[in-house]
Amino acid sequence: MKRHGLLIVDDEKEILRSLTLTFEDDYEVFTASSGAEALTLLGREEIALVIADQRMPEMTGVELLVKVRNINRQIIRIILTGYTDNTALVQAINQGQIYQYITKPWDRQELRIIVRRALDNYSLTLENQRLLEELKIANERLKNENIFLRQEICNKLYPIEIIGKSAAMQQVFAMIDRVVATPVTVLLTGETGTGKTLLARYIHYRGPRQQQLFIEQNCGNLPEDLLESELFGHKRGAFTGAVQDRKGLFEVADGGTLFLDEISEMSPALQVKLLQVLQEGQFRRVGENKYRQVNVRIIAATNCDLLTEIKKGRFRMDLYYRLNVFPIHIPPLRERLDDVPLLAEYCLRKHSQQLHRSMSGFSQDVLRDLRDYDYPGNVRELENLVERALLLSQGPLIEAGDWLPVSPVKTEDLSRLEQFERAEIMRLLDLHQGNLQRIADDLNIGRTTLWRRLKQYRLQPDKDAAVSK
Ligand SMILES: Nc1ncnc2c1ncn2[C@@H]1O[C@H](COP(=O)(O)OP(=O)(O)OP(=O)(O)O)[C@@H](O)[C@H]1O
Ligand SMILES: [Mg+2]
Repeated sequence: MKRHGLLIVDDEKEILRSLTLTFEDDYEVFTASSGAEALTLLGREEIALVIADQRMPEMTGVELLVKVRNINRQIIRIILTGYTDNTALVQAINQGQIYQYITKPWDRQELRIIVRRALDNYSLTLENQRLLEELKIANERLKNENIFLRQEICNKLYPIEIIGKSAAMQQVFAMIDRVVATPVTVLLTGETGTGKTLLARYIHYRGPRQQQLFIEQNCGNLPEDLLESELFGHKRGAFTGAVQDRKGLFEVADGGTLFLDEISEMSPALQVKLLQVLQEGQFRRVGENKYRQVNVRIIAATNCDLLTEIKKGRFRMDLYYRLNVFPIHIPPLRERLDDVPLLAEYCLRKHSQQLHRSMSGFSQDVLRDLRDYDYPGNVRELENLVERALLLSQGPLIEAGDWLPVSPVKTEDLSRLEQFERAEIMRLLDLHQGNLQRIADDLNIGRTTLWRRLKQYRLQPDKDAAVSK
């Protein structure tokens, strides 16, 4: 077994020599004659236990051991002292900053026993921690494998379908066809609910990497340091809690695809690291100097305008160019209303199958209503509407009564400015009895803009206007 490292710190050469003699048969002994020297050694060597003299010039033993604890709280800290009534010392012991103190002069045999016992404890704690960490990693692997297997099965049973016959979607399909077989980085842009995640999966499972992992990571829901270690992994001891080396998602997804969602949320420091992977295919785990090489296909997605983010100084131009090699924009549903009936049918089929109900479709007026809506939540919203109507419907046909396509605006979803604007328009609708020109004049906006606002806030431009529908 590897011998434990022992560090002895004392400004008196004599004591260093005598303690070295006591321990050198059983342990690997290092010596330092000052706190500063000890700290340098700690950075270089693997030390399990420190014995420090309390009385040293510049840095006392307790001061040193408190620092040691901050570096690594597992290291056993023993103080040698002639004074037991020193308040700093008593306090340090009480606060658990020191394992044990030993008064001078000490008994060699006794000191040996104390050290051996302490190190037994130390090994046990380490072993426990290692096992715990292994368990965690094993569990996580299992979880990932499970998700992966479930997705595999799911994709076999229900192959990913992307619905769309509009010219806009045909163009998206053509783009995808050109890129699936390549390892090229893809940037998916589009409002929320337009199908970015769906498309990312489709690209992976239609391409040559389909047998490898498809891994998703949202860049907007973790604090920077966690996201960094999640993506790039870390070396044991890189930060508190990093008790074991850990692979990041770039390594896990090696050979496969990594889908980085909400890419605009990535911090500038991480953007630099990502750029390096994109440029050189290499990165470093947190706390490690070594570069690792991976072959990962990146698909990134965002629902905001990266050029605006660049102007605001929040997104790096060089990274943008690297990501934007093959941009695919998915237009909002309101710009391709031709797709609505098809999508609605598809959603109805999907959800009625899940509920074991057999449905014939939508009534004519529902289909008309469906095309008369602007879907701020895009396909996701349409899907929710269909699902709800399905639950409300009695027979095999979705009819107007089951249907609430133009749902009232929830005012809490609007910003304060929008709430204010909406209230103001309601007041003017009342005041001018629905005369749009006069309202537009009062608001100092054009009639088309006013019309858009009315739609946005679900307000009716007739006499009973003040009531939102
Ligand atoms: N063209 C489509 N055909 C079939 N289903 C679609 C289509 N577009 C979107 N969907 C469905 O709509 C829902 C929302 O899509 P998805 O989660 O991919 O959107 P998103 O753009 O990733 O949204 P967000 O920006 O909020 O992450 C999903 O259930 C998805 O399967
Ligand atoms: Mg998504």
